[in-house]
Amino acid sequence: MEGIAESGRVRLLGASNVTAAQVRELAELARIPVAFVQNRCYANRGWDRAVRDVCDEHQIVYQAFSLLTANRPVLVNPEVTAIAKRHGRSPAQLVFRFAQQLGMLPLTGTKDPSHMAEDLAAEGFNLDADELAVINTAG
Ligand SMILES: NC(=O)c1ccc[n+]([C@@H]2O[C@H](COP(=O)([O-])OP(=O)(O)OC[C@H]3O[C@@H](n4cnc5c(N)ncnc54)[C@H](OP(=O)(O)O)[C@@H]3O)[C@@H](O)[C@H]2O)c1
Repeated sequence: MEGIAESGRVRLLGASNVTAAQVRELAELARIPVAFVQNRCYANRGWDRAVRDVCDEHQIVYQAFSLLTANRPVLVNPEVTAIAKRHGRSPAQLVFRFAQQLGMLPLTGTKDPSHMAEDLAAEGFNLDADELAVINTAG
């Protein structure tokens, strides 16, 4: 899926559910620079590493969706829950912060006000390199 948003003279091209090869092709050929890529981000696929690498090369914002729903095993992984406990955070907050520290823009949605407050508060802490490595391979 692709979309062009036009506001005044600013035109932004976004692509969703794309492979690394598709992002590379778009970045190299599209008349309008690709600004955003939005993908379902699976832990067991290296948290979409190949696509994120191409985004980094081309200064494209990588938006990750389904970080929770696609990665249930990560949320109950004992090493992950131990890190969450150490930081006084929920596993969901840990995954969102992990994604941010890897350079992703996490997307989520909730009908639960307490989840929304939790999700919005996922920024006020930092995971160290060892913790990032554990979460990186937890899928
Ligand atoms: N481009 C595409 O093809 C595409 C496809 C799908 C989604 N998206 C976008 O991505 C966004 C997020 O996708 P997603 O819904 O798959 O995200 P997600 O973060 O994996 O899942 C959201 C679900 O997790 C629950 N949740 C949220 N915060 C939580 C928390 N702190 N603790 C426990 N559970 C929590 C919510 O349930 P509760 O209501 O119970 O909190 C909701 O059902 C969507 O809103 C949409 O904008 C794009």
